[in-house]
Amino acid sequence: MIPFGIQVAGYQGLMKTLKGVAKTLPFPKPTLFSGPGSSLKLCEAMALMGVQRVLIVTDAMLVKIGLLEDIEAKLEALGVRAVVYDGVLPDPTVDQIEAGLKVLKRERCQAILAVGGGSPIDAAKVIAARATNNKPVSRMEGMFKVFSAPLPLYVIPTTAGTGSEVTIAAVVSDPKRRKKTPIMDPKLVPMMAALDGALMTGLPPHVTAATGMDALTHAVEAYISANALPETDGYALAATRLIMANLPVAVSKGKDLEARQAMSFASYYAALAFTRAGVGYVHAIAHNFGAYYHTPHGVANAIVMPYVLDFSKRSCIRRLATLGEAAGLKKKGDRPQALATKFIDHIRSMNEQFGIPDKLDALKKSDIPGIARAALKEAHFTYAVPRYMDQPACERLIAKMLA
Ligand SMILES: NC(=O)c1ccc[n+]([C@@H]2O[C@H](COP(=O)([O-])OP(=O)(O)OC[C@H]3O[C@@H](n4cnc5c(N)ncnc54)[C@H](O)[C@@H]3O)[C@@H](O)[C@H]2O)c1
Ligand SMILES: [Fe+2]
Repeated sequence: MIPFGIQVAGYQGLMKTLKGVAKTLPFPKPTLFSGPGSSLKLCEAMALMGVQRVLIVTDAMLVKIGLLEDIEAKLEALGVRAVVYDGVLPDPTVDQIEAGLKVLKRERCQAILAVGGGSPIDAAKVIAARATNNKPVSRMEGMFKVFSAPLPLYVIPTTAGTGSEVTIAAVVSDPKRRKKTPIMDPKLVPMMAALDGALMTGLPPHVTAATGMDALTHAVEAYISANALPETDGYALAATRLIMANLPVAVSKGKDLEARQAMSFASYYAALAFTRAGVGYVHAIAHNFGAYYHTPHGVANAIVMPYVLDFSKRSCIRRLATLGEAAGLKKKGDRPQALATKFIDHIRSMNEQFGIPDKLDALKKSDIPGIARAALKEAHFTYAVPRYMDQPACERLIAKMLA
């Protein structure tokens, strides 16, 4: 057994290399449309690009509440034939992706338009990659495994949380193996995206809160990452400021268009931060809560975040203090240690305000070793966390969330 200190040196070595890659590798960004009604501008751009047959990837709930009506009418008016695949469920699976691919091939679509939260967007990313890469989804898991450029992908997010419209990631679930695995490749960044807050005014308060806390987790994990860069720091702090000022409003007054639009930018900025700097143990553990218990991604992050920050604090006090300052928590004379603690406490009180619990009801003691193993497997050699933990420490941390 290799001593943990030597293992950590190995993780840090690889992370330094990755930081070099993140610094020098150009990360593509989608052409962006923003503001109420921008989703229709994106449709116009798609028609200008010569798209004649497009597959809309979405979920059945969004079709039911009529969120696609204006988009479909616009495409029809532009002469673009749209075929809808609405078989995506929260935490998309390989089967849902393969079913979408079948429709795409049958209808000979030239491009994909994702309309929805992170689940339809991630499914669309992988359908686009599967369409041009002759290998199963399982062989795309991990980093840089998408070889050929995916089909052109256009994205209209309807939640403000994952930021998937700009990230290199797509998360795929395998309920049989109780696994949720990210596929990470710059080729997965969509070609165009529209941040249209008007599509989010009907998002229920609990989904608004959970997805907003996902965005906050992206900003925080990117900011305390050892791979943070001045550019990612700027995006992470901007996202934190926007979330602190607008998430409570978006949750309590869902129809407030200004708060909705601000949250869609917050989610986008937070994603620009983490797509380069990476996330950390919060996501690694939360992905496994999703895989084991189907806990919504944002809820899982919100529950796990304060526990991981308590653990990480001693290695990133100044960074947490700066986040506290960005959150508007600094009082005259506050020292970094106190401000860092205030920031973590503030996350706990946001959870309480939003009705997000601090324990996970579904968590079973007997599952903890497996969850910890899978979380550490995901995190080590992938995320540049400020303080590393071994299996017993991870199990102890997760056990704190037992109801
Ligand atoms: N690719 C990435 O970079 C990235 C980052 C973080 C998370 N994720 C993944 O994204 C997925 C979660 O995405 P999500 O949190 O956006 O949720 P989601 O897409 O699963 O949607 C959650 C629920 O909200 C509903 N909904 C969405 N938009 C709505 C609207 N405007 N009005 C009313 N209802 C609406 C959906 O129908 C669904 O029932 C997870 O699988 C997660 O792992 C991906
Ligand atoms: Fe996330």
